[in-house]
Amino acid sequence: MDMLIFELEKDSPKPLYEQLYIGMKNAIIHKQIEVGTKLPSKRKLAEFLNISQTTIEIAYGQLLSEGFIVSKPRVGYFVEEIDELPYVEKDQIDVPIELDHGKSYEHNFHPGKIDPSFPFATWRKYAKEIFDSSSRELLQIGEPQGEYVLRSEIAKYLYQSRGIVCKPEQIVIGSGTEQLLPMILRLIEHDSKFALENPGYSAIPRIHLKNKAIPISVDDDGLVVDELEETDANIVYITPSHQFPTGAVLSAARRTQLLKWASKDTNRYIIEDDYDSEFRYIGKPIPALQGLDRNNKVIYMSTFTKSLMPSLRVAYIVLPNTLLQKYKETFSYYSSTVPRFDQHILANFMKDGHFAKHLNRMRKIYRKKHDKLIYTISTFYPNVTIKGDHAGMHILISVPLNETESELKQKASNAKIAVYPVSEYQIKPLNYRQPTFLLGFGGIPFEKIDKALHLLMTCWGIKKTSEEN
Ligand SMILES: Cc1ncc(COP(=O)(O)O)c(C=O)c1O
Repeated sequence: MDMLIFELEKDSPKPLYEQLYIGMKNAIIHKQIEVGTKLPSKRKLAEFLNISQTTIEIAYGQLLSEGFIVSKPRVGYFVEEIDELPYVEKDQIDVPIELDHGKSYEHNFHPGKIDPSFPFATWRKYAKEIFDSSSRELLQIGEPQGEYVLRSEIAKYLYQSRGIVCKPEQIVIGSGTEQLLPMILRLIEHDSKFALENPGYSAIPRIHLKNKAIPISVDDDGLVVDELEETDANIVYITPSHQFPTGAVLSAARRTQLLKWASKDTNRYIIEDDYDSEFRYIGKPIPALQGLDRNNKVIYMSTFTKSLMPSLRVAYIVLPNTLLQKYKETFSYYSSTVPRFDQHILANFMKDGHFAKHLNRMRKIYRKKHDKLIYTISTFYPNVTIKGDHAGMHILISVPLNETESELKQKASNAKIAVYPVSEYQIKPLNYRQPTFLLGFGGIPFEKIDKALHLLMTCWGIKKTSEEN
């Protein structure tokens, strides 16, 4: 065969043998080298291309092992017949991919963003300690339910801060609400009919097939239990301490009514999502519904997503004793979705009191941001209605404008501000009197809160009623 010219780039990060191998492979695939052709000897090709014989040897070896060429002892290498369509390197096509990670926004009011204050040095100390040969055992697969030490710490924390009495044996650790919810649904199957808050946490209907879930309205006292009672649902997902996204707290009367509803049938259950109960700025923390339950009807779930970081991917559920046996039968074959080392770092961090310290610190930070946001709205834009304040990391605002929520979202986006219409959290359309948005303040730096809000109002054409002094 004529000596093929392969363009080899000596400065490329791609090794020479790989460039040669790809060049020859493509030439064979595209029939630029015919079947049966004898390839030049390693020595000749090395001289011709001015590269080492070893490089040629590796490239030929790769072609040989993939069946593009054959070796005839003491004769040389020959191009093989290829029956099937070989793998062809795809041309790089520039497909525009829309990335919406908030990077292009100057101010992002996403309710899931947290303040980036974090005790890195302390966390690093625990990480360093655990990644040590004395932790060899942690290289093996752990308990499906999660590490016992972490479950013990969570049980202690739940007792002290949420009034929940449970044993570590009832706790299952998983990498998020999204991973744990399907597990719960499998545990309580028997043709379950699932009811959801409307509006509600948008991940839930996605997990559970939107069209099958029964939407239940929410008012200032939380979930409308009367409405639930009229359906044939046997499971309800609810955020009683701080309804997502309206911020309503489930009233005492509704709590009793809901627990009564659940106790009326053996297959009825309440899934209580206590996702951000750590952050309440006025009054006492709202006790968990689980603490009131005497009939094993509440499956409690919570997460470290708000209290530590969403990227940690650690959440947990507390199962009623009556579901433990079924859990063991169904799930003991599954492995935990959270790495063991991470579980130990978190457990040690909690054991030494750093979690409680972190929460106290974060509560102060979020309270300051919350107060600043509420102050700015109520001082300068009194005709903007605020709902769901005093807790968590977001509020709801309703604005006196005639445009639709999506038109206003677009206007904000044009001004590089991300806001989230409440309609994005509905499974059945609701008629809000005015366009309503979630404003998450967790991720906005304190000193930018007023600026971000003024910019938002300006782009919507809402005028300040007074000037800052
Ligand atoms: C209502 C609600 N539940 C749970 C979560 C957290 O889910 P995960 O534990 O999967 O991060 C969030 C996060 O924003 C939420 O808003």
